[in-house]
Amino acid sequence: MKDIDTSDLSWDDWDELQRPAPESVEFDAVVEAAISRRGFLTGVVAFGSGAAVMGTGLLSGTSAQAQAASRFGFTPIPIQTDGTVHVPEGYTWHSVARWGDPLFSDAEPLSQESAISVDSSDRVFGENTDGMESFVVDGRQVIAVNHEYVNPAINLPLTEGETTSADDVLTLQNMQGVTVMEVAEGEDGWSIVVDSDLNRRITHNTPMTIAGPAAGHPLLQTPDDPDGTTALGTMNNCGSGKTPWGTYLTCEENFNGYFGSTDPEAALPEDYVRYGIGAESRYGYEKFDARFDVSQNPNEPRRFGYIVEIDPTDPTSQPIKHTALGRFKHENAAAVLAPDGRVVVYMGDDERGEFMYKYVSNGAYTPGGPTSELLDDGQLYVARFDTDQTGEWVALTPEATGMDEAEIAIFSRAAGSAVGATTMDRPEWVAVNPIAVEGYCCLTNNSRRGPDFTNAGGDPAFAVENSPNPRDANRYGQIVRWRPVNDDHAETKFEWDLYVMAGNPKVHDDAYAGSDNINEGNLFNSPDGMMFDSTGLVWIQTDGDDSNEEDFVGMGNNQMLAGDPVSGQIERFLTGPNGSEVTGLTWSADRRTMFVGIQHPAAPFPDGEGQLPRSTVIAVKRADNLPVG
Ligand code: FEO
Ligand code: CA
Ligand code: CA
Repeated sequence: MKDIDTSDLSWDDWDELQRPAPESVEFDAVVEAAISRRGFLTGVVAFGSGAAVMGTGLLSGTSAQAQAASRFGFTPIPIQTDGTVHVPEGYTWHSVARWGDPLFSDAEPLSQESAISVDSSDRVFGENTDGMESFVVDGRQVIAVNHEYVNPAINLPLTEGETTSADDVLTLQNMQGVTVMEVAEGEDGWSIVVDSDLNRRITHNTPMTIAGPAAGHPLLQTPDDPDGTTALGTMNNCGSGKTPWGTYLTCEENFNGYFGSTDPEAALPEDYVRYGIGAESRYGYEKFDARFDVSQNPNEPRRFGYIVEIDPTDPTSQPIKHTALGRFKHENAAAVLAPDGRVVVYMGDDERGEFMYKYVSNGAYTPGGPTSELLDDGQLYVARFDTDQTGEWVALTPEATGMDEAEIAIFSRAAGSAVGATTMDRPEWVAVNPIAVEGYCCLTNNSRRGPDFTNAGGDPAFAVENSPNPRDANRYGQIVRWRPVNDDHAETKFEWDLYVMAGNPKVHDDAYAGSDNINEGNLFNSPDGMMFDSTGLVWIQTDGDDSNEEDFVGMGNNQMLAGDPVSGQIERFLTGPNGSEVTGLTWSADRRTMFVGIQHPAAPFPDGEGQLPRSTVIAVKRADNLPVG
């Protein structure tokens, strides 16, 4: 670690450095183990034959393709390797909110030399935009959006990224978390409504209620919070979700990297191992903020790794950490109602060899009815995928796991291991089709999958034929899809297939070429963000290798594509600036604007040469102002 400049590494690369892959992975074992590409196409068509539920009528394979051609309201675009955003002909884009843009008029604007002052750091739009959702509050358009992490070098330029004081730590803490902001469309497009009474920053220090089975547990009690019911802050807010009652869900992902020890000799609790919590933090918070020093506050990391609910209509409301939804590296939270009104939340745990989960409430949601218990009183499940393309959500009960309910909530990964959950290729976003009863999860990649790799719980993670994770040393990723039995997301049994297996037919002619809906015109790797639009198209955002070389030649910069669930057709809609990840997607209430997140560009985006690169939420519209999904 000491010899490497880690200041601009992605969190995933940083985590990789902390726990390097075994050197003896057998990269060639994949071909034998990989599922046949033909098998996937069969799966796609098999689901397509249920097209009646898609509202598109019964489709034969041929007519499905023909109809699919008209499903896309854009001409696909080629890859790009430059420093800006590209969209199809007939579409436009512009910046809405950039890192450092004021939410309140008393905030100082961003300085090219000194970035953001500590006093303004919780009054501006934070860094590294990620998951977002839109809401309409009293007729006004509101967006809640995550700020996943910070690049210290650009937030603390005067110290070259070093945290040298409590103010440095506070600046970094304030540039992360969540923004809730009102936006409005004027003659120059969408922009932040500065000083709106709905604008709000939520940071690493905002008080939060701890709710659910782990609330008050001794493992969550700290000197500052002896009751174990009020945490400070939410961190590494990655993907997002939205409840049926109109609140925002923000998802705590790589919380482990924020904690360190000022005492290198301090013994660390055994449960830290599964979550990658160690003595060395990424930002050095612990040097100036004892809350993050595990030698003094060993319970503090157990208060993170949850789903947090935020009410975007009330800037004074206290966010709630819902422990019933489990503690892991939460990517996002896709909420949907079962036919009987119970709330189902699908969730991924983004680490190599970790699991997929879902939560089902005990009570039912009724519009206007009480909602306060719906995310605190329910059952957590973990996914097991079987090789006959069926699977089961296995209930994490005390009987099945040997753990009590609070322990299941706090150590959910161990509970999943206890019931034989399937080790996955880094579950990123889950999305639920609004017009068919099916869910999708991006399994972004797993370079370590192989015969010698296990997750931190010791569960094996080698490629298994006819499983959702069929390739060792999987650098391209895939999207798994499942359909619950009886068209009911609360059911425990399901059928599954792979919607797409990314790959590169320019380089490979085996399983690494990808599934049959991959072609030289739609190459991508590492699917990550994913949302359905109201018409049932699935939008796929990538966070992958944008070198455009070797295994990744022909893939260009990270991008956003649209997929037809019925035909399997996937087409490229948008390309991001080089170095960036495209992540976060939501729509204006009238569906005429698509808001897209551009995270950590390397190029001086969006303002051009000589200007700092800035993570930015952009608005994408059709030139004719028709809906975009
Ligand atoms: Fe924050 Fe897994 O992406
Ligand atoms: Ca992600
Ligand atoms: Ca990712």
